Amino acid sequence: MSKQSEVKRSDKKRIFIIHGPNLNLLGTRDPEQYGTLTLGKVNTAIRRKARDLNLETRIIQTNHEGRIIDLLHRRRRWADGFIINPGAFTHYSYAIRDAIEAISTPVVEVHLSNIYEREEFRRNSVIKEICAAQFYGKKVDSYLEALEYFSKMKTES
Ligand code: DQA
Repeated sequence: MSKQSEVKRSDKKRIFIIHGPNLNLLGTRDPEQYGTLTLGKVNTAIRRKARDLNLETRIIQTNHEGRIIDLLHRRRRWADGFIINPGAFTHYSYAIRDAIEAISTPVVEVHLSNIYEREEFRRNSVIKEICAAQFYGKKVDSYLEALEYFSKMKTES
């Protein structure tokens, strides 16, 4: 590794962002709940905020539960933190909950909509109690608040 990349790796926190199922349809999917921004525009806002906060990011969207679990496993050492919007898996995936519990990297849960003011089945998050924080109901700003959380988080040195 070059000297330059060593410097880069050490002075920026690395945040891995996972968008779960159906979030690829943002922009046209229920804009009242999820906003009018496409996933591309959401990611642009995330990247801009991350740059302002001096955070390094990687962003992935997947519709598959197993891929979310694989990413949590494989990226747990790279990442100083995960931001995850597990979509509907939030409400029933004990497999994702187990994966979050099994790693020591902090995970922040994010939702575009206010899950507590919607259908009954959305009001329960099976991952909430094992996540470091939860941000919801502010559309793209929920993700930006999660980035701010990590930017303020103390790291071991
Ligand atoms: C969501 C809320 C979930 O209930 C839903 O299934 C989603 C998106 C949100 O971002 O508000 O897919 O996680």
